[in-house]
Amino acid sequence: MMPAPYRVRDGHLHFPEVALPEDTVLHGDCVQVMAGLPSESVDFVLTDPPYICGYRDRLGRMIANDTCADWLEPAFREVYRLMKPDTLCISFYGWTATEAFVSAWAAAGFRRVGHLVFCKPYASRSGLFRASHECAYVLAKGKPPLPARPVSDVSGWVYTGNRLHPTQKPVEVLEPLVRTYCPEGGLVLDPFCGSGSTLVAARSCGRRFLGIELDEGHVTTARARVRQPS
Ligand SMILES: C[S@@+](CC[C@H](N)C(=O)[O-])C[C@H]1O[C@@H](n2cnc3c(N)ncnc32)[C@H](O)[C@@H]1O
Repeated sequence: MMPAPYRVRDGHLHFPEVALPEDTVLHGDCVQVMAGLPSESVDFVLTDPPYICGYRDRLGRMIANDTCADWLEPAFREVYRLMKPDTLCISFYGWTATEAFVSAWAAAGFRRVGHLVFCKPYASRSGLFRASHECAYVLAKGKPPLPARPVSDVSGWVYTGNRLHPTQKPVEVLEPLVRTYCPEGGLVLDPFCGSGSTLVAARSCGRRFLGIELDEGHVTTARARVRQPS
């Protein structure tokens, strides 16, 4: 007979703690994948979820889950659970869905403690205005320590060419965030890792990383990127 996967102690079921995989990219829906990972095991989250705007680039490429928001609150609840006490999550977001993001983050337990603006030297599109910025919220679990040298909440941007992903973020812009807000040797999580830009930034800053991605093609790209010698 197979042994039970749990023990009963004090009238409660106790499951063995799974070790958090690190320096790897997991393929799957991050809500389901994160549900199998241990609580309070991540030092910093830097992520770039779908903007819930039905994005399609000039080549016709689209982003999975970019037209629905049913993943949003469950995903950030899991992110919050996985974060150690007194740590930060920085999440890019699309301003057209601000209400949905803000209410999901609050429901998960996050406190908004900063807002970052990245000024692009070019316009992503033009309409009523020339769209030339990206933005991200800084979300706290508990009361993270203040850094010795905080990063400005307005900074520049580098065009990636989006060769590896339709909304590829520049590693150079992510690195100062990792270096400043994740302790040395800490673990950086990106549950919507796309082509792995956050993971490459984490590795180049000497941090451990864990990426999760739904799209198999992007998983292949991210795995290849993090394997490349720096
Ligand atoms: C805005 S893109 C991230 C791009 C990334 N920052 C980069 O530089 O390549 C968001 C990614 O989240 C992925 N995604 C959407 N829903 C997901 C889910 N439930 N679980 C994991 N990944 C998901 C999409 O396939 C997409 O690659």
